[in-house]
Amino acid sequence: MPSPNCAPDTSVASESIATSRLKGTALDLASEGIAMVPETQERFAVKDPSTGGLIALVPDCDAEVALGSITPALAAQFHWRHQTAFHRAEILHRWRLLIEENVEALAEILTIEQGKPIAEAVGEIRYGMRFIEWFAEEGKRCYGDLVPATGQDRRALVLRQPVGLVGAITPWNFPNAMVTRKVAPALAAGCAIILKPAEDTPLSSLALAVLARRAGIPEGLFTVLPTARPAGVGGVLTSHPDIRKISFTGSTPTGQMLMAQAASHVKRMSLELGGNAPFIVFDDADLDLAVATAMQVKFRNGGQTCVSANRFIVHSSVSERFTAKLAEAVLALRVGDGLDGASNIGPLINEKSVSKVSRLVSQARDQGADVLVGGHVHSLGGNFFEPTLLVGVRADMAIWEEEIFGPVVTVCEFTSEEEAVSIGNGTPYGLAAYFFASNMDRIWRVSEALDFGMIGINEGLSANEATPFGGVKHSGVGREGSRYGLDEYTELKYLSLGGIGRPLPDRQCA
Ligand code: SIN
Repeated sequence: MPSPNCAPDTSVASESIATSRLKGTALDLASEGIAMVPETQERFAVKDPSTGGLIALVPDCDAEVALGSITPALAAQFHWRHQTAFHRAEILHRWRLLIEENVEALAEILTIEQGKPIAEAVGEIRYGMRFIEWFAEEGKRCYGDLVPATGQDRRALVLRQPVGLVGAITPWNFPNAMVTRKVAPALAAGCAIILKPAEDTPLSSLALAVLARRAGIPEGLFTVLPTARPAGVGGVLTSHPDIRKISFTGSTPTGQMLMAQAASHVKRMSLELGGNAPFIVFDDADLDLAVATAMQVKFRNGGQTCVSANRFIVHSSVSERFTAKLAEAVLALRVGDGLDGASNIGPLINEKSVSKVSRLVSQARDQGADVLVGGHVHSLGGNFFEPTLLVGVRADMAIWEEEIFGPVVTVCEFTSEEEAVSIGNGTPYGLAAYFFASNMDRIWRVSEALDFGMIGINEGLSANEATPFGGVKHSGVGREGSRYGLDEYTELKYLSLGGIGRPLPDRQCA
């Protein structure tokens, strides 16, 4: 582990990224981030999903390193939790400002390790930054309550206190914003946080940690532990009694496993898991608006988001017109390297994703779905997949049941409102849903009947720092962002204060 008094040895780290496409400030931030990781014998390769080239060799933390990070985190937290919310906010605002000053470098790191088009990467950094700003201020509004007491000589108070040390596990699809969406509320509430980023994309979180340190966030308070052996670090986060909360974004099976592991210490859990979002187009929908929105909510990040529209459920009377317009828009998409400003679809994250998407598409085709556009690995090769449009998809096909996580639209038809709602709800997932209609009665009926945590009505989801993000059923528990997001990092404590004197008798008040 580097000594706290020594400057990190960035020359060693620079060597481990000398061959990548990172340049200038992006290279410096990545190098400094790597040098901040507790030193271990092992290193793992982070690869560029566009070129397959090596970006960096990153220290591969194991369970022992994770255990070693707990005592410094607890020490840092002890000091931090007793600071005022105003002091914590000041430091968080400084962090946000440094991120803003380094947007381009952070976006470059993000695109090179994750693949998304550079304009989307800039959008993600700005999205992530806003969580820091929001929670810095929400920390100042972390109010308690004075509850009506049951006796004249009593007072009942409710305090909100930090939940304690947090273990966070973040995904590769939003390697920047999912970090700030967890770290900012934890720090604002007075907690320390140990983060295990996804092994495909550790550099964005390391760069954020560098800027956090420069902003004055004390050592130990926000620790990043990259690893290619997630079971070791994850196991410590879920099983160590001093880690009081787990916040995870990722797949449902992993979330279920973490929940089971954390059960023996009854840890607080926030789980933002998989989705299988329906996108319902009723016969009274504005079709142009539905098509434009479908393009956003299906192809953002190449379809690799938990809130991506996965199942298009379209009224039979408008289906042909809707799919014709959609096919035209899908054909106009440009696939390519995310650093090329003209690309609007980057590569999938890795070969495993390409195999999964290929398997789902070919099985659907074999079972009778028609491919109107795309359907194959892209001619660019590697991890690039063609934007694809399938019609005649049925609920018994794997592509309908599973989260696709790729640039593939699947369409089935319906004839009645009840049928549309029943197909939409016909999944164990309950994260996001979308529908398009103009009749107000229908809008209310369908909004109330759909069993999802977030619903976009005649629009995509404007997920942002002020609104609650999260799902129901197999899509998870808890909410991120918004005023509710801070609650996830606090505990309520009830103080019953007795013997404090009764009111003066009336005559003494006169
Ligand atoms: C996710 O896909 O996990 C997050 C998407 C978002 O925040 O919009």
